[in-house]
Amino acid sequence: MSLLDVKDLKTYFYTDSGVAKAVDGVTFSVDKGKVLGIVGESGCGKSVTSLSIMRLVDPVTGKNEGGEILFDGTDILKLPEPEMRKLRGNRISMIFQEPMTSLNPVFTIGYQIEESLILHKGMDKKAARQQAIHLLELVGIPEAGKRVDEYPHQLSGGMRQRVMIAMALAGDPELLIADEPTTALDVTIQAQILDLLKSLQKKLNMSIIIITHDLGVISEMADEVVVMYAGEIVEKAKTRELFEDPKHPYTVGLMNSVPDVDEDVERLRTLEGLVPSLYDMPKGCRFAPRCQFACPECEKERIKLLDLEDGHQVRCRRYEK
Ligand SMILES: Nc1ncnc2c1ncn2[C@@H]1O[C@H](COP(=O)(O)OP(=O)(O)O)[C@@H](O)[C@H]1O
Ligand SMILES: [Mg+2]
Repeated sequence: MSLLDVKDLKTYFYTDSGVAKAVDGVTFSVDKGKVLGIVGESGCGKSVTSLSIMRLVDPVTGKNEGGEILFDGTDILKLPEPEMRKLRGNRISMIFQEPMTSLNPVFTIGYQIEESLILHKGMDKKAARQQAIHLLELVGIPEAGKRVDEYPHQLSGGMRQRVMIAMALAGDPELLIADEPTTALDVTIQAQILDLLKSLQKKLNMSIIIITHDLGVISEMADEVVVMYAGEIVEKAKTRELFEDPKHPYTVGLMNSVPDVDEDVERLRTLEGLVPSLYDMPKGCRFAPRCQFACPECEKERIKLLDLEDGHQVRCRRYEK
């Protein structure tokens, strides 16, 4: 059963430099209790996709230009803002990359979680404090009863991210969107936070969208993966299938740029070339300028997302029958 159905979503930005088609016809679903990974290089539209779902895209420059976002059957793009506010932080919650920017430095972490519980759950002060401590325990903060009265700057980066997760859980979300939740953390802490997210997902039976530029994170967490490039989905598959049999040259390139753990020296074969400017997108395949298999045909017209077996999809002419 799908909890979220994003259909042909288009989010464009209108700036002095022109129109940036940051999300340009993206379609995916997230089933109840499942984890969807969204992966791609910086600037490919991952955060704009998640902000679109939260309806938090910059209203000055950003505009929804089409599509649907069905959450439990309701198109949230059509919800009046007060209704959306009831969903946000409750049924749909989000954690961001940089916990320090989302926590208020002048209030204790307990106060901030309590506020959220009072606002979203209508709890009284006493119940909220108890629940705040419970949530801090749930996200693995030792001595939660004591830490609850500390300020964000008294915590390490990893602990702050745990607090952010606790805050995101305050409203009992059915869907948690985690946008690069570990990117700002060092490697060992990253692993701990991912383990935490995984165990919470099982314990609470949440659906999660995990957004990352790191395929390692995806392989650990996700049931299904969407690979984005220049505002489009270029490949979608079950995680195992994607890693065993990546089809799109971009996906293959991403996989080859992951450092090989067996080598003494960390060798990073990066993808060559740059993501095309969103203001000046190639007419045909957007990856063609960087693709070793590109031929004149690829540059003629927009490439369709092809359906292969078992829900595997790829946007590449090489797989046309
Ligand atoms: N507020 C904004 N105004 C104009 N353009 C934006 C804005 N936010 C994002 N964009 C454009 O959308 C593109 C995708 O951004 P984003 O979704 O943040 O990428 P990422 O995949 O790294 O999360 C960026 O390249 C940027 O040009
Ligand atoms: Mg981002």
